[in-house]
Amino acid sequence: MLIVISDNMEQRVLDEIRELGTVEYKPENLENSIRNADVLIVRSATKVTAGLLSKAEKLRLVIRAGVGTDNIDLAAAKERKVAVKNTPEASTNAVAELALGVIITGLRNVQKAHHQMKNGEWKKKELVGNEIAGKTLGVIGYGRIGRSLAEKAKALGMRIIAYNSPAPDGKEFVDLDALFAQSDVISLHVPLTAQTKNMINREAIAKMKEGVFIVNTSRGEVIDEEALYEGCKTKLKGAALDVYKSEPYTGKLLELDNVYCTPHIAASTKEAQERIGRSIVDILKEFK
Ligand code: MLT
Repeated sequence: MLIVISDNMEQRVLDEIRELGTVEYKPENLENSIRNADVLIVRSATKVTAGLLSKAEKLRLVIRAGVGTDNIDLAAAKERKVAVKNTPEASTNAVAELALGVIITGLRNVQKAHHQMKNGEWKKKELVGNEIAGKTLGVIGYGRIGRSLAEKAKALGMRIIAYNSPAPDGKEFVDLDALFAQSDVISLHVPLTAQTKNMINREAIAKMKEGVFIVNTSRGEVIDEEALYEGCKTKLKGAALDVYKSEPYTGKLLELDNVYCTPHIAASTKEAQERIGRSIVDILKEFK
C-alpha cells in the first residue's frame, strides 16, 4: 500500500504509519506522487481539488488529519469513489481549551498588557478587564467543540446560549439575532459551508451589543474580515482569531491592539496530535 502524506506529521505517528505501508512523506511534486498512491493523508494546507484527484489512478482513501474537510473536494472524491475520512473527535478538547483561554485572556487584556510591558510601558489603569462569571457566551455551532466549550464556560459561571442549524431541542438554543443581541462573548464553532461563509458580517455586528468579544477557532471565511476590522475599531471589545481567510495571515487586523491573533494552533497540542495520530493509524488498519 502506498501512502502519500503531504502535510506535516509527528515523527511517532509517521513511524507507526510506516509499519502499515510504503510512505512517501511531503513529496515535492504531489501531482506525480498521487498517481500511484492508495491513500493520501493531509492536514489543512493541502487542497485536494478535483484536478489533483484526477491525477490519481489507484487512490481509494483520503484521510484528513483533523476536523474540517473544507480543503477537500468531497463531490469529486465521491465521483471517483475515493473515501474521505477525518478524525473528528481528536482535537475537540484542544480547540475548546484554546477558545476558553482566549476568552479569559481577552476579557482581562492579558495580550495587550504583555505587549505594553515588552515595550517598556506600565499602563495599569488602562487594563481594567472583565470577569467571565455572569457573562453570556453565545456559541455559534453546537457540535462537539461548541458543546465542550459551553460545558467548560458554564462551570466557570458563564450563562450559555447557542445557535445551531438545525436546532436541537434544548432551552439554551436561540436564533442568531437573539444570540447577537444577548451575548457578551461570541465563539464560532461552525464548519465552512455556503450558509456559514461571512455569517459574521456588517449586519451581524450591527445587531451585537457594544463591547462584544468575538472568538474564531473555526474557519476564517466565516467572518467578513473587513467588517470585523471596522467593528473592532468601533463597537466591539475586540476579537481573538486563530483562523483567517488566507493563511498565513498578514492582513490589517494585525494592526489592531484589541485583535489577538494565533496562527491556526487551536488543535496543536501534543495530546490532540497524539489522538489524531492514533485515529489515522486505526483508519489505516481498518482500511488495509
Ligand atoms: C481542523 O480542522 O482540524 C483544525 O482546523 C486544525 C487544522 O486544520 O490544522
